[in-house]
Amino acid sequence: MAFPEKFITDLVERSDIVDVVSGYVQLTKHSGANLFGLCPFHSEKTPSFSVNRTKQIYHCFGCGKGGGVINFIMEIENLGYRDAVELLARRAGMAMPEEANDRESRRRGRLLALNKDAARFFYEQLSTPAGQAGRDYMRSRRIGAAVAKNFGLGYAPDSWDSLRKAMRAKGYTEQELFDAGLVRRGKSGNSFYDTFRNRLMFPVIDVRGNVIGFSGRILGDGEPKYMNSPETPVFDKGRNLFALNLAKKSKSGYIILSEGNIDVVSLHQAGFDSAVASLGTSLTPEQARLLSRYTDQVIIAYDNDGAGQKAAQRAIGILEKLDLRVKVLRLTGAKDPDEYIKARGPDAFRNLLEASENQVDYRLRSVADKYDLEIDEQKVLFLREATDLLARLPNAVERQVYGMRVAAMAGVGADAVNAEVERLRKRLLRSAQKTEEREQLRTDSPKERELRYEDPASAKAEEGLVRLLFLDPVLARRQTLPKPEDFSSPALGHIYAALLELIEQGRAVNLGVLGEKLSQSEMSLLVRIQDEPEDLSRGEQALGDYIRKINAKKTYDPTDLVALANTYREKGKGYEGK
Ligand code: UTP
Ligand code: MN
Repeated sequence: MAFPEKFITDLVERSDIVDVVSGYVQLTKHSGANLFGLCPFHSEKTPSFSVNRTKQIYHCFGCGKGGGVINFIMEIENLGYRDAVELLARRAGMAMPEEANDRESRRRGRLLALNKDAARFFYEQLSTPAGQAGRDYMRSRRIGAAVAKNFGLGYAPDSWDSLRKAMRAKGYTEQELFDAGLVRRGKSGNSFYDTFRNRLMFPVIDVRGNVIGFSGRILGDGEPKYMNSPETPVFDKGRNLFALNLAKKSKSGYIILSEGNIDVVSLHQAGFDSAVASLGTSLTPEQARLLSRYTDQVIIAYDNDGAGQKAAQRAIGILEKLDLRVKVLRLTGAKDPDEYIKARGPDAFRNLLEASENQVDYRLRSVADKYDLEIDEQKVLFLREATDLLARLPNAVERQVYGMRVAAMAGVGADAVNAEVERLRKRLLRSAQKTEEREQLRTDSPKERELRYEDPASAKAEEGLVRLLFLDPVLARRQTLPKPEDFSSPALGHIYAALLELIEQGRAVNLGVLGEKLSQSEMSLLVRIQDEPEDLSRGEQALGDYIRKINAKKTYDPTDLVALANTYREKGKGYEGK
């Protein structure tokens, strides 16, 4: 266990969820124990985010997120469990316990140290004879020594075991290398080989300076172009951004979001020190939230191809929700920022940055580019699409200003455009309200929800068993319980396993302690389940019912004849054949 249970319990007690949440969300009191506010995790106009002071939980009826105070901090500050605990401890004026140096944190510490040593190893290769290929490739991409050093770029030699040998000599175990994703298991199962071979290495460094993973580019053409570290206990791709460790120190006042590692390196080398890239995935809401902690303006500089432009539209949507000012840079005559800078130089790129359009301009132009505005028919199509876009702008002044722009583009009167925009806007608002109401109904109705389970009947019993054990752990000793593997829903099975583990260890069962073992979505599920009615006075009977239903659903491996025979025997006389 990572933290002593008493510490977590004290911490949760001293971190009243209403106080903590109020630091981020404006809550208003309704009847009962619930307070309501606008959900910070999805965009909405009517409050569906509730905080319950008695139960010390939060729950959003709109997006389904929920949990205890620790989960709230993890989610909103984009932190891991232990960092969230540390933040709350600081807030509550509590000292972190000695035991924070327990097994799990030692393991993470070892992985981080291993990654750092591996990064150093790759970097050093650049100045050995074995590193010639890497040096040549860097030269061909015009990556200089200074920027290489700043990023800690390196070279993974063309060898099956040079990293593995070097790290083993430093005392890291085979298992640690495997856990860090630096070696892979051979076909035979008990031999390991280096994951990254003959590649240009980009260490991924988090905002605290930890090397959390790697990205390795092939030298020249070939597949796969990039290899990335797998998800590990220290590497969560969707929650980190390449080069944010450097960009966060920039004085520029904005962050440049690009697609490629090479683009980022090239931009920094040309003096644009606020460039970052998402790690080979499209931008996630967590990454956007992370960005919003360091800047209030993002300039998107994605590749100049269809995929890049699509990704830009998606990114705009995500960034906008966080009230970030978003601009989009328009590359011409080059496929990406790296190519542009190499062809035209840093000054030309700076001009592009300064000319970058705000997102409304950008989207209007994308629409205009699709039509020939000389042709009346196409003009109408353009107006239809453009007014729809304008109707979605939340700001009335913006709608007016861009309405005039659109009118001028199409050569029609501004009044006609504005009237149409406002008409569409009213319609949108009405339908948005309807959807929100429907959403509310959907998430409120247990019937609908069950449909998302593969086996709704069994899942209902699984939910019941989880709820009973959560509310009254003593019940666990009363009857023979099913195994987590017997659950039809993997998520419920995992929650159940975590509960059983705590109960078996005789530990307290509460959201604070469970948060350490469960993912955010599992916590949300648990919060929802435990909130449903259950008559604890007849808990034991309910327990029996749930267990029977789960066991009845158990599917046997047909090759396991003994088990099969036993089922028939248990069912006794009742085997009717098939
Ligand atoms: P790009 O193909 O645009 O690569 O992919 P790049 O970094 O600009 O490299 P050059 O200039 O073509 O040499 C953009 C990003 O997508 C991820 C990497 O993070 C890359 O930087 N990616 C790409 C992968 O993760 N795997 C791949 O196979 C390809
Ligand atoms: Mn690229």
